[in-house]
Amino acid sequence: MKKFLIGLLAVAVLVAAVPLVLMATGTIDSSSLRMILNVMTGLGGPATSAGAVQRRLQLPDGFTVQLYAADLPRARFLRFTPDGDLLVSRPHSGDIVLLRRDADGDGHPDAVETLIDGLKRPTGMDFLGDWLYIAESDRIGRVRFDSASGTLAGDYQGVVEGLTDDGNHWSKTLRFGADGLMYLAQGSTCNVCTESDERRATMMRFAPDGSGAEIIATGLRNSVGFDWAPWNGALYATDNGRDLLGDDFPPCELNHIVAGNFYGWPYFNGANIADPDMGADPLAQQRQPTPPAHGFRAHNAPLGISFIDATGWPAEYQRSALVALHGSWNRSTPDGYKVVSLHFTDDGIEERDFLSGFNRDGDISGRPVDVAQGPDGAIYISDDYAGAIYRVSRGEGGAGLQADTAIPAASRLDSEPPAWLQDADLDAMAARGAELYDHYACMACHEEGMNPVSLAGLPQRLGYRAVIEVLRAPQSPMPIFPLSKAEQRELAVYLLTREDSATPR
Ligand code: HEC
Repeated sequence: MKKFLIGLLAVAVLVAAVPLVLMATGTIDSSSLRMILNVMTGLGGPATSAGAVQRRLQLPDGFTVQLYAADLPRARFLRFTPDGDLLVSRPHSGDIVLLRRDADGDGHPDAVETLIDGLKRPTGMDFLGDWLYIAESDRIGRVRFDSASGTLAGDYQGVVEGLTDDGNHWSKTLRFGADGLMYLAQGSTCNVCTESDERRATMMRFAPDGSGAEIIATGLRNSVGFDWAPWNGALYATDNGRDLLGDDFPPCELNHIVAGNFYGWPYFNGANIADPDMGADPLAQQRQPTPPAHGFRAHNAPLGISFIDATGWPAEYQRSALVALHGSWNRSTPDGYKVVSLHFTDDGIEERDFLSGFNRDGDISGRPVDVAQGPDGAIYISDDYAGAIYRVSRGEGGAGLQADTAIPAASRLDSEPPAWLQDADLDAMAARGAELYDHYACMACHEEGMNPVSLAGLPQRLGYRAVIEVLRAPQSPMPIFPLSKAEQRELAVYLLTREDSATPR
């Protein structure tokens, strides 16, 4: 144990030296270094505070932003209950949190409660009558929800079983359409490939009891967010373009989803440009790819989308949607990291910044995930990096904003070492971890290629529990590996103790 601690100390000293050495030798400039550090910490960022939000975030004139809730690590999707409480899904902790509406008007939820836990990576949520539907990574379930009290009633029951969640893009997004049918978006297992489960990389539709499954749109690489335009009922879905074709290609997409259409992936990118890795579409005789309705900048990673009821807002928002751009990992300078507004005009769709300032020259303070409009007309935005929910409203100075109240982030480092570490043979474990690292070619993304996600300095950022959590449920594009619990521990020991964990090769 002592040897291990000395090792850790040595690693920490090395880590502190690496940035300086790299900069001094001219291997890397300071902004790329910041970017690397930011991507590396992309699984949970620093705390944010009401004051930081005020100082840093920018909005168009006439809007104001507040830190509505903090300390919600890896908050992902949002849904308002019929009575105005806000549900937040957290796939990595397998739970859905209920933020009680701000009845006392202090600018924060009146209470924060776990509504349901023990789920498998829940993301999408919606209501139909008094049912709350939840899209886990491998099934859809529902449970009766008493909206007035904000509590569950009765048992959670499966509605659609046997969805697949292997590979990348395991999250599932679910919404009910005005037609009373349940729409489900599922991402691809991979960056580019042909799928063995034909339901992956599609939009599906079901009756509320889960029957009548039909695939209504294909060729959607990872459409995490979708919503219907209120003025004509058209369905639009965001889609994340593929990686590893350089900084500026292909665009991420907004697609107008029409039943029966094919949206190109994996054979076409952007405006139907043939993919260099895939060859001809074998079904070319039967289908033509539909080009995107709008292209976002490459690697901006659009996630949640919400059309806005712009009552009381300026005229240009009358036909608009807000889209959360989670931000790039596969780009030499970071891009995205903001919420944009899309303005639907007779001439097409115009994109403008809405909530920005999360990326200051590569210094990242947040990553927006989803957008939902509350019954109060305000816009609520989730951030899985800062673990926060922001509230954007019209007018100046929201109620009860407390200047500079620092809110501590949940630490990603172990508060105490996990019990299994006590009697562990660290050398043997590290050796097996190294074999696994080679076996699964982790270096392909972490040491090689154009923009490797360096694992240098890992022990400074993540403890054993957090590393194991990353391996258990990695963030796209890192794949899920079929690792046993013991193997996850071995990899964690290897990564956190290896001498060169401080030195990117
Ligand atoms: C296809 C590319 C890819 C492969 C292969 C891959 N990773 Fe990753 N990994 C990533 C990306 C990208 C991230 C950052 C994710 C983010 O932005 O949240 C990441 C993050 C991580 C992190 C967290 C780093 C941090 O600083 O928070 C660890 C630990 C990690 N990977 C370990 C591994 C191990 C171990 C393997 C092999 C078993 C592996 N990865 C294979 C792409 C990959």
